[in-house]
Amino acid sequence: MSHSDHCETRRGFLRASVGLTAAALGACASSERARGAPKKVLVLGGTRFIGPHIVEAALARGHRVTLFNRGKTNPELFPECEKLRGDRDGDMSALEGRRWDAVLDTWTDMPRHVRSAATLLGPNVGQYVFVSSLNAVADLSQPHLDETAETTPLEPKDEDNPSAELFGGRKARCEKLLAELCTDRYTIVRPGLIVGPRDGSDRFTYWPVRIARGGEVLAPGSGDDPTQFVDARDLAEFVVRLVERRTLGLFHVVGPERELSMREVLETCVRVAENDARLTWVDTRFLLERGVAPWTDLPAWLPSLEPGHAYWTLNVSKAIRAGLAFRPLDETVRDTLAWWATLPEARRAELKRGLAPERERELLAQWHARPS
Ligand SMILES: NC(=O)c1ccc[n+]([C@@H]2O[C@H](COP(=O)([O-])OP(=O)(O)OC[C@H]3O[C@@H](n4cnc5c(N)ncnc54)[C@H](OP(=O)(O)O)[C@@H]3O)[C@@H](O)[C@H]2O)c1
Repeated sequence: MSHSDHCETRRGFLRASVGLTAAALGACASSERARGAPKKVLVLGGTRFIGPHIVEAALARGHRVTLFNRGKTNPELFPECEKLRGDRDGDMSALEGRRWDAVLDTWTDMPRHVRSAATLLGPNVGQYVFVSSLNAVADLSQPHLDETAETTPLEPKDEDNPSAELFGGRKARCEKLLAELCTDRYTIVRPGLIVGPRDGSDRFTYWPVRIARGGEVLAPGSGDDPTQFVDARDLAEFVVRLVERRTLGLFHVVGPERELSMREVLETCVRVAENDARLTWVDTRFLLERGVAPWTDLPAWLPSLEPGHAYWTLNVSKAIRAGLAFRPLDETVRDTLAWWATLPEARRAELKRGLAPERERELLAQWHARPS
C-alpha cells in the first residue's frame, strides 16, 4: 500500500498552488502568509469536525499541513495537502522518519493512541498539541474552575475500555501520558462544548434551527443560567496560534470572555432568525419533574439547583492571554444555519438533540395550564 494520497486536482481549497503536487512541495501551503516562518504541521485526523477547521485555519495562515488518517472520513477534503495513510490501531509506519514543527492530535480519547503517537513522533516534532476535553476535569459543577482543577481518575485496567462513562478519565489519562512522553514540548487544550458549522451532534445547532422554524419555543429555566461553548473556528485559530508561538501548557477553551446566559444565546437566535419565534421560559423544576433532561433534551443547558455549584462558569483567562479570541455569537448562529441548510433533507428532517416537536408542544401546553 502506498502511504501517500498526494494532491488530487479536482478542486482547490484556499487557493492551492496550481500545478505543484504535494510530493513536490512536501506538503501544500496556501498563498496567505503566516506571521513568522510557516510551520510544517502534522494533523492526526483532520477530516470530521474540528480537524477541518484546524486545517483550514493553518492553511489560511500559510502553514504546510500533512494529514494522517485512514482515508475513510471525508477523504475528498484538502486535495492540496499531503495525505499519509495509516491506522492508529494498526500500521503507523507512514509517520516513521519524518519531522514536523508540530503535531496536532485532534480526535482520540484512547490512551494507547497517544502512547504510540507520542513515542513515535515525540523525538521528531517541536511541539505535540493534544485536543482533550473539559470532561478530563473531575467535577465541572464547581464554580470558576481553572487549569488547576482535579482531573477525572481512571483505573489502569480501564485504559482500553471504550465506555462513554469513562471518556473523561481516558482523556485525563491521555493528558498524563503526553506529559510523561513529551515532557518539554506538549500543549493540551481542553474544549468544552464545541459548536458551529460541521458539528454533527446538534448539541448547539438545535437552538438556531429550532428557533429558525418559528412559533412558540420552549426555553429552559429563567434565562439566567450561565452557558459556555466555543465556536470550532475560534478553537481552530487558537490552536494555530499556539503552534505559531510554540506555546506549551494546558488551556481550558470555552467562551466567551464574559458571562453568557441562556437568555442571550436564545435571544440572539431569535434576532438572527427574524421570524415570529417567541421564547417561553419554563421553570427548571417543572421541567425536571417531567423528566426533561438538561443538556440532551435542552442542549447547552446545565442548571444547578445546589447552592455553591455552577456549571459553565469556567475561567478561561489563561487561554485568552495565550491568544484565544471569540467571534460574535450572531456569526456563529448565522453560519451554523447556513451550514445546516447545505445538509441533505433527510439529515435535516430530525435533529439529533433537543425536544421532539410533539414533546415540546405537550410541555408548553402543560406549562400554560399549570395552576397559577
Ligand atoms: N464536540 C465537542 O463538543 C467536544 C467537546 C470537547 C472535546 N471534544 C474533542 O474534540 C475532538 C473532535 O474530534 P473530530 O472528530 O472533530 O476530529 P477530526 O480530526 O476532525 O476527525 C477525526 C479524524 O480521525 C480519523 N481517524 C479515526 N479513526 C482513526 C484511526 N483508527 N486511525 C487514524 N485516523 C483515524 C478520521 O479519519 P478516517 O476515518 O479517515 O481515519 C478523521 O480524520 C475530540 O478529541 C473530542 O474529544 C469535542
